[in-house]
Amino acid sequence: MRWSETATKIHEGPTTIEALWRADFEFHEGQHAKVTTSGMWKLAPVVEAGLRTSLPQFQLGEMGTGAHLLTAAEKVGDPDYVQALQLFVREEQEHARLLALVCQDLEIEMLQKHWTDGVFQVTRTIAGLRAEVLMLLVAEIVAVRYYKVLAEGVGDHVLSRIFARIQEDEVRHLEFHEATLPQHIDRWPKPLWLAARTIWLIALVGTSAVVAWDHRKVLRACDSGPTRFFREMLRLIRVQLPKFFRPTTA
Ligand SMILES: [Fe+2]
Ligand SMILES: [Fe+2]
Repeated sequence: MRWSETATKIHEGPTTIEALWRADFEFHEGQHAKVTTSGMWKLAPVVEAGLRTSLPQFQLGEMGTGAHLLTAAEKVGDPDYVQALQLFVREEQEHARLLALVCQDLEIEMLQKHWTDGVFQVTRTIAGLRAEVLMLLVAEIVAVRYYKVLAEGVGDHVLSRIFARIQEDEVRHLEFHEATLPQHIDRWPKPLWLAARTIWLIALVGTSAVVAWDHRKVLRACDSGPTRFFREMLRLIRVQLPKFFRPTTA
């Protein structure tokens, strides 16, 4: 969709936050379609070795179809929200495509499954929409920091731009969920709300620690060792937690 069409749609009003986000995703749809890889990167051997151990896990994590998420969202009944989620899932799949291109050029073998991905999938499948989006957000928040480290430290400007593209999308994804999820979370009874907040915090801190350790090779190669990555994650979590667990007027 062209920006003029999106702007017209926004001004047609009355509109909802879900409709605005649907328009935003429509505007960004296909933005990476022309990205191909050069295969001519100049990477330090230590960076290439780090990417080899790290990228396949993130590539796999970006590949979900979102089928369970979309079914759960349809029960909420807002077609704009469902459509926005559909386009959000498509953007994640586009990230998987970009990472697959990088893997192919570097002749990195991709994964079919990994235990961390399995844990996320099982947890999300047994939960309702709100819990499912919260679990998905754990990966989103880690991704925001991870791709930033890669974009800033990989040392090749073309590859850096690919990671920056993904990171910019991940920041928008956080903003999308921040705009649409709290009103649903806020409907939970107080004890459940408090329990969910505690579990989410534990999941965020725990996942950050696992990623910092598991991906230490590439983090070190990109000038952000595991300790620094974990510290930055704690800072990010402190900012993000109150954005999702906050009173709303809905
Ligand atoms: Fe992504
Ligand atoms: Fe994302």
